[in-house]
Amino acid sequence: MKELLNKIVSQALDAVSQCADSKSLADVRVRFLGKNGEMTAVMKGMGKLSPEERPQMGKLVNEAREKIENALAEKDKKIKKAELCAKLSAEAVDVTLPSKPTRELGSVHPLTRIKNEIIDIFKGFGFSVAEGPEIETDYFNFQLMNVPKDHPARDMQDTFYIDENILLRTHTSPMQARIMTTQKPPIRVVVPGKVYRSDDDASHSPIFNQIEGLAVDKKITLGDLQGVLTAFAEKIFSKDTKTRFRPSYFPFTEPSVEMDVTCSICGGKGCRVCKDTGWVEILGAGVVNPHVLDMCGLDSNEYSGFAFGFGVERIAMLKYGVPNIKMFYENDVRFLKQFNKEA
Ligand code: DAH
Repeated sequence: MKELLNKIVSQALDAVSQCADSKSLADVRVRFLGKNGEMTAVMKGMGKLSPEERPQMGKLVNEAREKIENALAEKDKKIKKAELCAKLSAEAVDVTLPSKPTRELGSVHPLTRIKNEIIDIFKGFGFSVAEGPEIETDYFNFQLMNVPKDHPARDMQDTFYIDENILLRTHTSPMQARIMTTQKPPIRVVVPGKVYRSDDDASHSPIFNQIEGLAVDKKITLGDLQGVLTAFAEKIFSKDTKTRFRPSYFPFTEPSVEMDVTCSICGGKGCRVCKDTGWVEILGAGVVNPHVLDMCGLDSNEYSGFAFGFGVERIAMLKYGVPNIKMFYENDVRFLKQFNKEA
């Protein structure tokens, strides 16, 4: 019987060692330890032994059983580990693969992009950035800008009044007064923001975006204004852009100018956009009217300044050759997508 046990054990260990998966291991378990298994048959045969032999044989049977159990458990561990490894490598994800383009990415609106570009240029010149209220008082929008009530210069800006003293700002210029009444020079600031006018055609919209600029210090001259704005034009359009300054009139500047740049569409040769002149007007500017400085509490004998203001849409239309201002507001993706390429 002892030999029989040894034989069963060695057969069992042999069978276990040949197993390569959980299924065959389970079969081996049934074959040796199951209800009708070989070990069970031996145990059943113990009934025939004499009472003296029984304990000794019982011990041997238990030892044999244990050996088989141990071998099964050890092999089971190995198989489980191998199966897990195989599963992990089969299901492995390569995180370095580029993802599938399932969703289209949005992009910055062309007006926002131009606005940011303009602000960055002036930041590079040492200007800070400020923003102000779109609902403004008549006092800041007009009076402190040297446009008294009933002054004919009010006709330059068709205004949405809320009541007699409150209105939607017609320009960003009132921020000049808000800054000068609260800050001491040196002042160098640009003010982006929405402005409102009762005005509507291919190049005008009732809401549009302006950028105001103001520099106040000792000994600021028209030459400083020309230098800064020419450098700006070269950066926003191209290095070979030329500028020219024509006399103009704004109540808040004296002298006042309008700045033209060589047409960025035809390079100054003449085209539909520049009406064959080679030049396009882009902004109003001037030396801050001493009366405005005084009204804002800055001594015009001590300080001088320059100011300018322009429309963001106008710059964008010229830079990109956009024929109608409304295209910026319709948000037709076919239009907007054309600006993506430059991202
Ligand atoms: N505020 C003027 C407008 O909206 C533009 C302007 C002209 C602003 C001359 C200025 C300036 O600061 O000096 O038409």
